[in-house]
Amino acid sequence: MKKLEEYVVSIPDYPEKGIIFRDVTSILEDPEGLQLSIRELQDKLEGMDFNIVIGPESRGFIFGMPIAYNLQKAFVPIRKKGKLPCETASIKYDLEYGSAEIEIHKRSIKPGDKVVIVDDLMATGGTAEAMIKLIEGLGGEVVEVLCLIELMGLKGREKLKGYKVDSVIQYPGN
Ligand code: PRP
Ligand code: MG
Repeated sequence: MKKLEEYVVSIPDYPEKGIIFRDVTSILEDPEGLQLSIRELQDKLEGMDFNIVIGPESRGFIFGMPIAYNLQKAFVPIRKKGKLPCETASIKYDLEYGSAEIEIHKRSIKPGDKVVIVDDLMATGGTAEAMIKLIEGLGGEVVEVLCLIELMGLKGREKLKGYKVDSVIQYPGN
């Protein structure tokens, strides 16, 4: 059986020169890759006490939802600005390339909720840091930030000191 990292297709100079794009859709195209990716993420959460999985649009939806379903937790989306119909909390932040604004429904998180954030990839950690601010602003506690892929060279963990951060595949550079 292939290892998970063997399913990842790496595209040099996309979307900008100097960036190596790690394409997670290549994992999902293979039934065994898909199974392996969800299983390996889920294994990282064994024994953890939490009630909500949060995934950011769009690639965080892909990996967050099946984990919430399998572990019988709630799933709460964090979306790009302008997509959620009810009252939201929002935050602007910098990306590895560009900037973004994300939102969450205020009603989705209550004081005392224990949240695991699941995303496909951590680069600068800016998205995770922004999500933590949104969740904590509503009284939730972030018990883990879990990513399938972590680009160690961009030192995202340094932005997330004091939080439990874990990933399945680590690349040394960016
Ligand atoms: C990508 C990726 C992570 C984030 C990581 O999402 O899916 O969510 O960037 O970068 P960071 O650690 O530097 O914040 P992107 O915003 O490109 O959107 P997408 O998931 O909709 O493709
Ligand atoms: Mg994303």
